[in-house]
Amino acid sequence: MKTFKIVLATLVVSGLVAGATGAGIIYSGVYNVGADNHHLDATYWVLNQARKRSVAAHSADIQAPELGGHDQLVEGAAHFSEMCTGCHVPPGGQMSEAAQGMYPQPANLAESGEEMPPRQIFWTLEHGIKASGMPAWGESDGPEALWALTALIKAFPDMNGAQYQALVNEAKAKGIGEDEHSHGSHGDEHKPGSNHSESTENTEGHHA
Ligand code: HEC
Repeated sequence: MKTFKIVLATLVVSGLVAGATGAGIIYSGVYNVGADNHHLDATYWVLNQARKRSVAAHSADIQAPELGGHDQLVEGAAHFSEMCTGCHVPPGGQMSEAAQGMYPQPANLAESGEEMPPRQIFWTLEHGIKASGMPAWGESDGPEALWALTALIKAFPDMNGAQYQALVNEAKAKGIGEDEHSHGSHGDEHKPGSNHSESTENTEGHHA
């Protein structure tokens, strides 16, 4: 019993010392939060594993619909070119200046499409990733748009720049995705009463 008390006291004291040291380090401001001050390899590895495990666990119950039909890829390309290319490089494209200065750097989605099951991509799009710059799109975009983006990312590994551009052009020609989001800086007229009148494409083919 005596040993138990000594062990307990030692644990409590070391806990307090560790806590006080941590608080001291935080309060002193010695930790550099600059995006150009990269993590140690070991820290990066730990954070990366934590992200992967978290996404895998949280997406485990999501059932992916059938993905990859042509119309769905066109819709995905419409959203991707409007919402994602400020950070992620599309097939055949180049990384924006802003993205080059980000840390962690926006993922190479051709690799993600290769490695991640659809449910994990979908969950990431819906919820975003804390403290990384990756936004949560679940509030602004419904499941149909997020599955279309997921399908597109799954197709990225086998897609070249010309094929991607053809999808974007087809979406533009059909008016898909236009005026659905207020993010984007396209200067469409937003006259009162005229908004969202052309979003009829939402009613066709529910793949989800
Ligand atoms: C403001 C910048 C930004 C925008 C806009 C953005 N992302 Fe991201 N995204 C990131 C960053 C940064 C990461 C990497 C996070 C990390 O490694 O912790 C990321 C990660 C991801 C991942 C996870 C990849 C992996 O391998 O784990 C997916 C999938 C993704 N983004 C898709 C998208 C899609 C699709 C869009 C558009 C709807 C989008 N992102 C818009 C910054 C952005």
